[in-house]
Amino acid sequence: MRVRFELNGKPAEADVPARTTLADCIRHELKQTGTHVGCEHGVCGACTVIVDGAAVRSCLTLAVQAEGANVTTVEGLAREDVLSPLQLAFRRHHALQCGFCTPGMLMTAHALLTEEPDADPDRVREVLSGNLCRCTGYVPIVAAVLEARAAYRKGGK
Ligand code: FES
Ligand code: FES
Repeated sequence: MRVRFELNGKPAEADVPARTTLADCIRHELKQTGTHVGCEHGVCGACTVIVDGAAVRSCLTLAVQAEGANVTTVEGLAREDVLSPLQLAFRRHHALQCGFCTPGMLMTAHALLTEEPDADPDRVREVLSGNLCRCTGYVPIVAAVLEARAAYRKGGK
């Protein structure tokens, strides 16, 4: 089936079997491999992307469900070669170890702070609890997200 959507602000289209997940479509057909695939069961959150403003598990979403939508992946966060404030906060706080969970963490946090730039620490922890870090580096991840709130309040994402 032919599917068309906007990927990181640019038109994208692919011809995929109806059963193809959005994660596989993005990674294999559209060659954007920043989105990681871990459990493929909706548990780990590594595959999180943003579809029309909502953080979704791309391993549980069919590519055809994204028809006509705006899809943002981790590749869409930076502007040219400049990391986004959220990415810079992750770097400052050393909020990654192996980095496998990082794209999903970033996209979950980006969706949260876009909607709730005043999210308090409990709210940040609650939302990030859907993303698993095998390296268990949750403390710096939460610290980075909390620091990045200031940029979202100013609208500078
Ligand atoms: S790969 Fe999608 S939730 Fe784990
Ligand atoms: S940094 Fe290794 S899984 Fe999170």
